[in-house]
Amino acid sequence: MNISYDEQLQPYLASLVPPRPPELQAMEAYAQKHHFPIISPASGHFCYQMTRMIGAKQVFEMGSGFGYSTAWFARGVRENGGGLVHHVVWHAGLSNQAKGHLGRLGLDDLVKFTVGEAVAALREMAGPFDLIFMDINKDGYPGALPVIAEKIRPGGVLLVDNLIWSGRIFDEADQSPATTAIREFTQLITQSPNWITSLAPIGDGLIVATRV
Ligand SMILES: C[S@@+](CC[C@H](N)C(=O)[O-])C[C@H]1O[C@@H](n2cnc3c(N)ncnc32)[C@H](O)[C@@H]1O
Repeated sequence: MNISYDEQLQPYLASLVPPRPPELQAMEAYAQKHHFPIISPASGHFCYQMTRMIGAKQVFEMGSGFGYSTAWFARGVRENGGGLVHHVVWHAGLSNQAKGHLGRLGLDDLVKFTVGEAVAALREMAGPFDLIFMDINKDGYPGALPVIAEKIRPGGVLLVDNLIWSGRIFDEADQSPATTAIREFTQLITQSPNWITSLAPIGDGLIVATRV
């Protein structure tokens, strides 16, 4: 059997996502038009599901863009009875854009917006967090892991995007800093006794890890 990862699997997974608000669909259309990398709808739904599954109320997002992934976490947190989702990105323009989207979704009262470098922002936080999501520049992944491990509660969930990296991880000729860092991060977390980890082939590859 020949499954084309990009052409068949991802549209199929997207087709299984329940109907979502027009504002979320508008964000997806904007991302596609402007080539802005957001998580896939199926990844978003998965993030929402994880938030509900563990009853997360305190969520820290690293590399939030214009708020698409934030919206999925905030929906889950609202249904969990409320809490706080940290939206952290280093561009003020994206932070403002996110405020608009989350306001129109009626979720902005659950979100704290921070403009800055995400690992440094997390380091400043008292925590602990129930759930941390990482989607920053890929060469920052390995260095972020010890900070995340310190700030997440035992039993908390770490979600990390882009671990398949459009298949570039399989190309041995690709020794770019981003691809190398993704390989290194994957080895670090899957071999660590501090985490129980699986890599789900949803979107661009989503790691789901539980803090032991
Ligand atoms: C992949 S996009 C985020 C997409 C978002 N998670 C979503 O799915 O809707 C990553 C964003 O985080 C920003 N970014 C990358 N590394 C960062 C870092 N270390 N600290 C803060 N922002 C970062 C990028 O400039 C970009 O706007």
